Amino acid sequence: MATTSPPRRTGIFAVRDVGSLAAEAHVEGQQLKRAVGTWQLTAMGVGAIIGTGIFVVIGEGAAIAGPAVILSFVLAAVACVFSALSYAELASSIPISGSAYTYTYATMGELVAWIIGWDLILEYGVSVAAIAVGWGGNFNAFLDTTFGVAIPEALATSPEDGGVFNLPAVIIVLAITLLLVRGVTESARVNMVMVVVKLAVLLFFIAIAFANFGTQNFTDFAPSGADGVTAAAAIIFFAYIGFDAVSCGSEEARNPKKDLPYAIVGSLVICTIFYVLTAIGAIGIARPDQLAASDAPLAAALDEGAGIGWAASILSLGAVVAITSVVLVILYGQTRIFFAMCRDGLLPQGLARVSPRYGTPARLTIGLGLLISVLAALVPLSEIVKLVNIGTLFAFVLVNIGVIVLRRTKPDMPRPYRVPWSPVLPILGILFAVYLMTDLPLSTWIRFVVWLGAGVVIYFAYGYRHSKLRAGESETVGGTPSS
Ligand code: ALA
Repeated sequence: MATTSPPRRTGIFAVRDVGSLAAEAHVEGQQLKRAVGTWQLTAMGVGAIIGTGIFVVIGEGAAIAGPAVILSFVLAAVACVFSALSYAELASSIPISGSAYTYTYATMGELVAWIIGWDLILEYGVSVAAIAVGWGGNFNAFLDTTFGVAIPEALATSPEDGGVFNLPAVIIVLAITLLLVRGVTESARVNMVMVVVKLAVLLFFIAIAFANFGTQNFTDFAPSGADGVTAAAAIIFFAYIGFDAVSCGSEEARNPKKDLPYAIVGSLVICTIFYVLTAIGAIGIARPDQLAASDAPLAAALDEGAGIGWAASILSLGAVVAITSVVLVILYGQTRIFFAMCRDGLLPQGLARVSPRYGTPARLTIGLGLLISVLAALVPLSEIVKLVNIGTLFAFVLVNIGVIVLRRTKPDMPRPYRVPWSPVLPILGILFAVYLMTDLPLSTWIRFVVWLGAGVVIYFAYGYRHSKLRAGESETVGGTPSS
């Protein structure tokens, strides 16, 4: 069955050509609108970052590290910064939908790209379900503390937590799905408003906390020592996930060369400043065990720690708004990664069709929204955070490797943004990510390996046979040198 297809590598390690990736973004009927600027992209990052992590997971960090959870926030941020630079380089050089998935396709080949795309479902799809559950909990807490009414337990929690299904979580996922179907410009505008609100709420918390600040909770600063700080950082890392979501918008950025690096690094820096101040403020007004015992630790710090109930009510409302924009941006990222995977034939291509009416991949968005809402209805939050973290850290490792590989294989490729001192900084990015991964429990590792194993099976059952690259419909590199 010899064919006359162009010279190419047909193996599972075939690599996409960066030029053909860019050209494909302009295929009729599969073109996304370039409508988003630097500020909107930065807001997209902040929108994805500040959410369940600072409003909920901080309590878990405080339980592990005590007041030294402040240092865990710093450590997690440092761990992210190197990878953020690598994301910025790849996003600006390959401004195509799909984030780490697309970068890997252009550097390490199809199988690794598929694995990372599958892995990103943990960071995006699965985490949307978890975040939505967190949203539901905060929403219910707000209703309870403000109006004294709450959605009955059976309709507000997953079966594992004693309920039937989580109605508020389903509602938020479906509402955001509809917003994304309507179009990214409208969605980005709504997101901008929510980001302003969430920053204002954190500032409100910081101001009240510093006005009531005491040093008594800082005495036993690191009860579990350096190990506690690191272990908490591996959990707190969840709070920083999202800056890479900016790269998912690269195909819709007006000026990807400038917009992307600014937005990725900028959103990370803004959030780090807010987080560290919030953590210092929280310990200044509440004991770590008070934070650890609550599902809404910041609200609890204001209520039980500082004794200001009305402020706690405002804060829980702020948490609801904050988490809403996280759901928006992360779900947006998931749809764009799937979009890229469908376009490459690793998932059914028909799903990737862009709606002529809205200019968005509407069919795909609705399908994903429905699947995630089922997950959100039935899945409890706690263990998911660790699974999301390990999946995201793994993606960071591959993105850093991607920068190093691409510098060698494509030294002359235009790179609007370059990571300084490569490969030193990408290697530091890898080491920090692996360091945090090794601090996650064995059970998380087992789930992660099982998930990846399932992904490999699906690849050989579907993607291997339907891949456009392997069918010769898109260009590889490595067949013959291109000049
Ligand atoms: N960083 C995001 C959050 O805190 C995932 O919710």
